[in-house]
Amino acid sequence: MSEAVLKISNLRKSFGKKQVLTGVSFEAYAGQCIGLLGPNGAGKSTVSKLITKLIEKDDGKIFVLGTDQDKDFHSIKKHITLVPQDFAFYMELTVKDNLQYFSKAYGLSRKERKNVIPKLIDDLSLSKFTNTKAQKLSGGYKRLLNIAISLLHNPTLILLDEPTVALDTDMRIKVWEVITKLKEQGKTLILTTHYLDEAQKLCDKIAILKEGRIILFGTPKEIQEKFARTVRIELILSKAIGDTILSQIKRKFNAIETNEDKTRIVISSENVLNTLTDVVYLIESKRLIVKDTNIFMPTLEDAFENIIKG
Ligand SMILES: Nc1ncnc2c1ncn2[C@@H]1O[C@H](COP(=O)(O)OP(=O)(O)OP(=O)(O)O)[C@@H](O)[C@H]1O
Ligand SMILES: [Mg+2]
Repeated sequence: MSEAVLKISNLRKSFGKKQVLTGVSFEAYAGQCIGLLGPNGAGKSTVSKLITKLIEKDDGKIFVLGTDQDKDFHSIKKHITLVPQDFAFYMELTVKDNLQYFSKAYGLSRKERKNVIPKLIDDLSLSKFTNTKAQKLSGGYKRLLNIAISLLHNPTLILLDEPTVALDTDMRIKVWEVITKLKEQGKTLILTTHYLDEAQKLCDKIAILKEGRIILFGTPKEIQEKFARTVRIELILSKAIGDTILSQIKRKFNAIETNEDKTRIVISSENVLNTLTDVVYLIESKRLIVKDTNIFMPTLEDAFENIIKG
């Protein structure tokens, strides 16, 4: 495998007496998207801020494209970008003027600006709004402008902190398309997100942070297979199930839900075949008919819940 674009080892950070990161290590390669997941306050944003040196680490090592952050941050800075959650542009400027302004601030030549700005406007679906003031954009397009500005200097390593939070489905999909395109271009992305469907769709590897360290690192599939054990079994009955048998089922299988008219029950189980056989036998022995059964396979959400609880 080629050299890691990002290599973090044993990263530690405290704020006052509070230890926020207690030894975080992982690597990311070209064309990879790494998802940083974990409960609120786990330290996800802190990792991004340390990579971009917005805050200083206490201990550990950060290498970007093989260069030690401690030795030469100046030369690696131009390869990194952090797309913040807050909007970091001028509301009273148009989309194009914001891009012009920030590209000058990044030191892009006139020729580079001429090439880069129209391309970003196009790639980020901002063509309709080129001459629109930023303040007039919807939340989703503001987010896309934020991303466009962060990409002006053609960074290799892109850190996205919750890029789709509070967006509607259409805009989330637009942001996902942008992320997918960046991956195809060989960029390396670190994506902080609370949305597991997003992580599953976009990330090659997921790092789960809990209490300041990575408790799990793997592909979404590996994590799902290893930790999402509970299958949900839905049974549709010919008529309402009686209370006696319902409490009998409840005693036997602990996780169970019913609908209001008691014609549908859902049982969570780690052993589908046994549970299904037992419960159908029990129900049909009371002269009720199971009209239909559905099995819902575990999701990454289930896995995540198990890991965080565990
Ligand atoms: N500048 C700071 N000073 C003091 N404490 C801080 C500072 N920044 C973060 N913290 C604390 O560090 C912990 C981790 O914060 P961080 O923002 O990295 O979490 P997070 O995983 O990004 O959470 P969220 O999912 O809510 O965004 C939290 O307890 C937070 O209160
Ligand atoms: Mg955060």
